[in-house]
Amino acid sequence: MDRPPAASDTVRIPVWDGGVRLFHWTLLGAVGIALATGLLSHILWLRLHLIAGVAVAPLLLWRLIWGGLGSRHARFADFAYSPRAVLADLRARLAGRHRLYLGHNPLGAMMVFALLAVLAALLASGTLALGGMLKQGPLAFALSYATGRAVLGWHKILGWALLGMILAHLGGVIEESWRGRQNLVGAMITGKKRAAAAMAQRKLAARTGLALGLFAVLAVLGAGGVVALARLPGRGVPPATQDPVYAEQCGACHMPYPPELAPAAVWQALLDDLQHHFSADASMSSALVAHIRTYLLANAAEHWDTLPAWSFRARDPADPVRLTATPFWKRRHARIPAAVFANAKIGGRSQCDACHRDATTGRFAPQAIHVPVAW
Ligand code: HEC
Ligand code: HEC
Repeated sequence: MDRPPAASDTVRIPVWDGGVRLFHWTLLGAVGIALATGLLSHILWLRLHLIAGVAVAPLLLWRLIWGGLGSRHARFADFAYSPRAVLADLRARLAGRHRLYLGHNPLGAMMVFALLAVLAALLASGTLALGGMLKQGPLAFALSYATGRAVLGWHKILGWALLGMILAHLGGVIEESWRGRQNLVGAMITGKKRAAAAMAQRKLAARTGLALGLFAVLAVLGAGGVVALARLPGRGVPPATQDPVYAEQCGACHMPYPPELAPAAVWQALLDDLQHHFSADASMSSALVAHIRTYLLANAAEHWDTLPAWSFRARDPADPVRLTATPFWKRRHARIPAAVFANAKIGGRSQCDACHRDATTGRFAPQAIHVPVAW
């Protein structure tokens, strides 16, 4: 057992190189934003959540490269302890013994690998959920809504697990700082730890040029691949433009609702009774009705795999034709006060395009929501 060194016979030994420190603090920033916007806040913060989440990808790539090419204590080999060593470290701690490690101690090292693994799993599950549910990002071409929805559950569980692990990591840092009489947060800023001069190991230099070059090449290739995949048409996504006759006739009094917002049976019922169309008489020539019927039935909700196409299928039996009477619509708009809908800038619940800037395309992306009235 090594005693914590007395101040007199210690020196400040460089431990954490610039590559580790920069990684650590930028990762903390990105993960902090992603966790706050993901766990605590609202779908309207999705844009910021995605920016922070995407930033984690190059950081992880960098850490993987630096784990092979960084200076001594940055390398994974420096803190790849066996399970036996981790257990021995845990036992020693429980017995109140303390040993100073210049790099990560065995328990801390295990947490570093676990954090990196959970972050990678969060990135993967986030990309799967985004692709399946919102048909955005590199996997939108391949994934079904049902898959995305299932994975979102895992994404949330992993998010809470990450939060717990970060708290445990903080606890470990505090415990180790206290026992070793050494400010480990400061060490991650300055890069230096206080230790007996005899502990200093021979320098193992970083191969910075090679690491940066490798990072640049892989980052550019990765980003190019992601952008190319994200451009592919989303799976089960209807065309963004509408039939012009439909748009003109059914867009005369309100926005022309995208056909995927209702199942075929609802469109049939609506078209069969245009004279008594809510408070209006929307009757039109039978040729127009036939044209519109063909278009609506060919593009009804059953044919598509988007969030709106799935969400508006369940109907209120008492008022099956209204979108705004569906359980989904009511649930998602429950927090918006009636006075907001009544505001002249919006003009009622049925004016989806007053708040959803992409409403006529049928996408209803969270990033395109903009309520033009303060609430
Ligand atoms: C003459 C004007 C007029 C025309 C033309 C018209 N509508 Fe409507 N529509 C209305 C009114 C009024 C409402 C009720 C809006 C409200 O309650 O705020 C309505 C409501 C709706 C709703 C329910 C919206 C909600 O709040 O959930 C749907 C769906 C709809 N219309 C589809 C159509 C389709 C499809 C066509 C073309 C066949 C069409 N409308 C043509 C006037 C019209
Ligand atoms: C007053 C503005 C407003 C109007 C009008 C409005 N919405 Fe929304 N809508 C919102 C807001 C805000 C949210 C996000 C609410 C939340 O999740 O807490 C939302 C959420 C949604 C979502 C979920 C989006 C997602 O990916 O999570 C859909 C789909 C949607 N609205 C469809 C509609 C349709 C269809 C209409 C018209 C019948 C409509 N909205 C009218 C403001 C509006």
